[in-house]
Amino acid sequence: MARVTARTSDIEKAAAVLRAGGLVALPTETVYGLGADAENPAAVARVFEVKGRPPTHPLIVHIGGAEHLGDWAEDVPATARLLAERFWPGPLTLVLRRGRRVPLEATGGLETVALRVPDHPIALALLSAFGGGVAAPSANRFGSVSPTTADHVRAELGDAVDFVLDGGPCEVGVESTIVDATGDTPSVLRPGGVTREDLEAVLGRPLAVHSTSRVRVPGQHPSHYAPRARVVLVEPEKVVAEAEQAQELGHHVGVFLPPSMADAQVKAHAVVEVPASPAAYARGLYGFLRELDLQGCDLIVASLPVEEGLGLAIANRLRRAAGPRPSQ
Ligand code: TXA
Ligand code: MG
Repeated sequence: MARVTARTSDIEKAAAVLRAGGLVALPTETVYGLGADAENPAAVARVFEVKGRPPTHPLIVHIGGAEHLGDWAEDVPATARLLAERFWPGPLTLVLRRGRRVPLEATGGLETVALRVPDHPIALALLSAFGGGVAAPSANRFGSVSPTTADHVRAELGDAVDFVLDGGPCEVGVESTIVDATGDTPSVLRPGGVTREDLEAVLGRPLAVHSTSRVRVPGQHPSHYAPRARVVLVEPEKVVAEAEQAQELGHHVGVFLPPSMADAQVKAHAVVEVPASPAAYARGLYGFLRELDLQGCDLIVASLPVEEGLGLAIANRLRRAAGPRPSQ
């Protein structure tokens, strides 16, 4: 999938860093992860420290293949096995009962564990060379925008990471879909790279998606994926007027110009033309937010895409980017 192939020596070096209890930033098809040996509680503790993440927020454990599921989870329902077979490697995370290899430090004290097999040749090569599970949240500071290039990771975490594996820009661009697969009726805890429609096609029945406004699981906060600039969401046809009004009031406004308004002229500090294809939008989303921050915008005006397919995950991230900030 990815265009960049890491040298074998880099993979070996990264595996050695993990074995020594260090932190490796690794590319996945969704976003870059900040990885540690999932079975080393001290290494896992460093992930929380570097991210500034509360220790009760569970991490995703990345494994090399569905055949290892039994090592990392217990009482795996047939439905979960089906989903793993169909979507792994891929942007799907399954929440299951914690297996014996998973320390409580990685799950934030929960008796469940989130597992996924990433669809990226470098991540898979690392998992194979390392041999164990890699606990990895997105490689950004708590609450901020997830990184989709190695440069984003270096800019945000710098020397706090022992080794950065560069796998080029992430193909999917938004995080994995998280599914509670502990019971016979799976439900979506976080929309992401695998669409609800894809899941329903495999399951042969409708799937519950938890409301985005309720805190359902640790780590799902109203404010998340947030750039420095404040984000305001309005109807697509109001984006231009809202942006120009704020710009006149003295704001440095960044605009996400929706595809339906592509021909509009807008007087603002910076303009992002939102791609019409949801896949291209998802791939670019976090980079666009970072770019508007870099250009000095203090306000971003955007609208929500249609909430189907990847649009569901994009809308979820935009709502949280626009959510009330802890400091406000
Ligand atoms: O695409 C992704 O999922 C990326 C890449 C690196 O794999 N990872 C990622 O990790 O997004 P993170 O830590 O930013 O988000 C993981 C979320 C947590 O915030 C939490 O909501 C949920 O996964 N989670 C993890 N373990 C869980 C569990 N046992 N039960 C419920 N939710 C869990
Ligand atoms: Mg994250």
